[in-house]
Amino acid sequence: MHTILVTGAAGFIGHKICEFLLEQDHEVVGIDNLSPYYDLKIKACRLKDLAPHNQFHFEKIDVEDEIRLSELFKKYSFKKVFHLAARGGVRNSIEHPKEYVSTNVQGTVNILEQCKKHGVQNFVLASTSSLYTGYEPPFREDLNVNMPSSPYAATKGAAELISHTYHHLYSINVAVLRYFTVYGPLSRPDMAQLRFLHRIANDQPIHINGDGTQSRDFTYVDDIAKGTILASDCTGYNKFNMGRGAEPIKINTMIDLIEKKLNKKAQRQYLEFNPADIFKTYATNDKANAILGWQPEVSFEVGLQRCVEDYIHRKKFMGGLTI
Ligand SMILES: NC(=O)c1ccc[n+]([C@@H]2O[C@H](COP(=O)([O-])OP(=O)(O)OC[C@H]3O[C@@H](n4cnc5c(N)ncnc54)[C@H](O)[C@@H]3O)[C@@H](O)[C@H]2O)c1
Repeated sequence: MHTILVTGAAGFIGHKICEFLLEQDHEVVGIDNLSPYYDLKIKACRLKDLAPHNQFHFEKIDVEDEIRLSELFKKYSFKKVFHLAARGGVRNSIEHPKEYVSTNVQGTVNILEQCKKHGVQNFVLASTSSLYTGYEPPFREDLNVNMPSSPYAATKGAAELISHTYHHLYSINVAVLRYFTVYGPLSRPDMAQLRFLHRIANDQPIHINGDGTQSRDFTYVDDIAKGTILASDCTGYNKFNMGRGAEPIKINTMIDLIEKKLNKKAQRQYLEFNPADIFKTYATNDKANAILGWQPEVSFEVGLQRCVEDYIHRKKFMGGLTI
């Protein structure tokens, strides 16, 4: 069993990866700066789920803090690093481009520098389908993604590139995973699935950017975490799409389904479409399927049902969140 670092461990996807690695009996060190970008009670709740595992160790560390990172890498001998820590959110990145560069690019270089110094052989980078702006879906990994439409996408593209440099110069195996709109229980309140679920459940209006016909390749978090762990054993430099890879779901369709499951009517308010957003995302997973044997297993209907059940189960906690 190995000692593994997960950055962004209090985050939505990071915490699920920690959970699955712990189930495989690895020793997992999770770091996160507990950024207040969204309600910290959700991050505390995720960490509380991980705390009972005695193989899990959490440290509040910022990936921009080189001194703390250096101490961490001296303290543990990491076999693999899963780098999930990042500032997410396309629209927020337009307001704060410098902060996105500093966390998503400089933070990635800081982690890669430690991997280089300490001989870490496997580095996994969480990247994004937002890089595919300007192309007709379904998207393939070999498209030339050099037209990012937001600072967020641009910083993720930069992180992909610098990871390649560390692979080239220091032979670190790198797996770049381009995730497609990840959803699931305890997800991010800045993303439509939880925000709409919460607001419809509480009889509050929902704001939809555009006319709701834009669509997303919603992918269930367990599928994403499993694929990410499989990719961590790859050698060389590889990019993989990780999406549900079935017909994308229109935002209006998702709202219809939430209404049906909650037996409530949404108060829909339509706003301008944001030019930083992609209209439709849709992955081809052929490469992940062929090389990793990975295939998403959870349909949108089943995944959404699990989200609604989890929301109802935690209703009191969820009701106290700022969403
Ligand atoms: N959720 C999605 O649909 C999606 C899609 C594509 C890519 N991604 C990528 O996957 C990764 C995880 O996303 P998520 O949805 O779990 O987001 P998240 O915001 O829930 O998790 C990211 C975590 O990183 C932490 N963090 C932010 N800045 C940090 C810093 N400077 N130092 C240390 N920790 C820091 C945050 O506190 C947060 O807990 C991110 O890299 C994101 O860009 C997510």
